[in-house]
Amino acid sequence: MLRKLLSCFFLYCLCVQTPPTVLAGSAPSAAKTLVWGPGLEANIVLPARFFFIQAVDSGGRNFTSSPGENTFEVKIVAPGEPFSRIWVQVLDRRDGSFLVRYRMYASYPSLQIEILLKGKHVAKSPFVLKGPVYHESCDCPEPSGDVWQEHMHCPSSIPQILRDLAPFPTVDPDRNALDVPRRFGQRQSLCHYTIKDNKVYIKTHGEHVGFRIFMDAFLLSLTRKVKLPDVEFFVNLGDWPLEKRRPPETVHPIFSWCGSNDTRDIVMPTYDLTESVLETMGRVSLDMMSVQANTGPPWEEKNATAFWRGRDSRKERLELVKLGRAHPDLIDAAFTNFFFFKHDESLYGPLVKHVSFFDFFKFKYQVNVDGTVAAYRLPYLLAGDSVVLKQDSSYYEHFYSDLKPWEHYIPFKSDLSDLLEKIRWARDHDEEVRRIAKSGQEFARAHLMGDNIFCYYYKLFQVMVHGNSVLFINVASY
Ligand SMILES: *[C@@H]1O[C@H](CO)[C@@H](O)[C@H](O)[C@H]1NC(C)=O
Ligand SMILES: *[C@@H]1O[C@H](CO)[C@@H](O)[C@H](O)[C@H]1NC(C)=O
Ligand SMILES: *[C@@H]1O[C@H](CO)[C@@H](O)[C@H](O)[C@H]1NC(C)=O
Repeated sequence: MLRKLLSCFFLYCLCVQTPPTVLAGSAPSAAKTLVWGPGLEANIVLPARFFFIQAVDSGGRNFTSSPGENTFEVKIVAPGEPFSRIWVQVLDRRDGSFLVRYRMYASYPSLQIEILLKGKHVAKSPFVLKGPVYHESCDCPEPSGDVWQEHMHCPSSIPQILRDLAPFPTVDPDRNALDVPRRFGQRQSLCHYTIKDNKVYIKTHGEHVGFRIFMDAFLLSLTRKVKLPDVEFFVNLGDWPLEKRRPPETVHPIFSWCGSNDTRDIVMPTYDLTESVLETMGRVSLDMMSVQANTGPPWEEKNATAFWRGRDSRKERLELVKLGRAHPDLIDAAFTNFFFFKHDESLYGPLVKHVSFFDFFKFKYQVNVDGTVAAYRLPYLLAGDSVVLKQDSSYYEHFYSDLKPWEHYIPFKSDLSDLLEKIRWARDHDEEVRRIAKSGQEFARAHLMGDNIFCYYYKLFQVMVHGNSVLFINVASY
């Protein structure tokens, strides 16, 4: 109904000659609208490329709600090619901005991106990307890592990487290749990767090595984009971080998808996030871009109950569901699956049907509580426009140390003892909470996209190789 009304309003604006001051802000201006992002640069090769459009009116004011899903038309063609195999999607983020993503199925000498508003070119459209413009499968590595990082606008250093690698100023790869399988290879699932001349060699240890497909796929994608330094490393394919030793004991470098306060594993972006980067506009439906187009109703219309769905992979999750059953006015938490604990329906209620992740954002407050390890849904929760209530935890992903409580999320204690209090606080401080939701979302938009993930992995290998030089000097200050 509201939409209908709005579109009538639009028609009115267009048809009736009114002075601009009266209804200013109601129509975007082609000249003032802003367009930016990595997808406008030929040298930023990503599985799905993307850029942004911010609708701006003729008075220079940003739209803060959608000017209409089909406001902008985007055409991407390869000049001179009879058929361009490029799939384009314009995603309405409903905050006045749009995310445009496209996936190429061939490489082209150049690319032309046209952004149109009622047939008029927007901003500096058409954008011409002077190529070659490579597609994801092109085996076309940039020989210089420095040049590639400059193209990608990678950060010059990443504190989490410096901290993780600090205990390993030098590593003897031969020693490591013997020690690590001896210590962990029987009970754990490990993969020993060797990158030599930008080729990836793999040796697995342990039985359950299925998860290596994620790592393999990502490394192959990275080596198609940039020449990697020669490195060897062990990836832990299991859930839990492994290295519990501390100096002066010999600590071994192990790459894991999850870190913890009690271990010294080197964290990498999770298999879940890397998979979704590679398979955006492909095999996955939940990725950091699609979530931005599916953030539910506007804030005022979201349900002010805290929401959670998941499986029983940790005791605190049982606590959460019990809390929800005792306080249904505050928390809607239910299991979709029982696997780890005995299911007692009188305590935990019936299993409920799986809810589409995008439907989580009908609720204002998203509860993030550990599963087996850190809950890998956090990047997607942050990208929605609900606020995240995050459990204090000793587990972390590669980006947690950049998140600040009360700025990007609302913290609660690991035993959940203050969760109800925090939800009540949130209800009483709606403006402030909305601001936290927004800055969490901005964080995700700026730091957890495909280009960020590729930079993180590259940086990890680069620092490993050059680790025993100047890069380590400043570690203590982080
Ligand atoms: C409008 O949006 C752009 C893009 O997000 C932003 O850089 C700019 O600061 C905004 N302008 C105002 C006046 O808020
Ligand atoms: C909000 O969600 C709760 C829990 O799912 C539900 O019981 C309640 O009816 C919803 N409130 C509104 C106004 O829809
Ligand atoms: C883990 O370490 C972080 C960062 O130092 C800290 O904020 C957090 O409270 C710790 N959590 C637990 C449960 O140890």
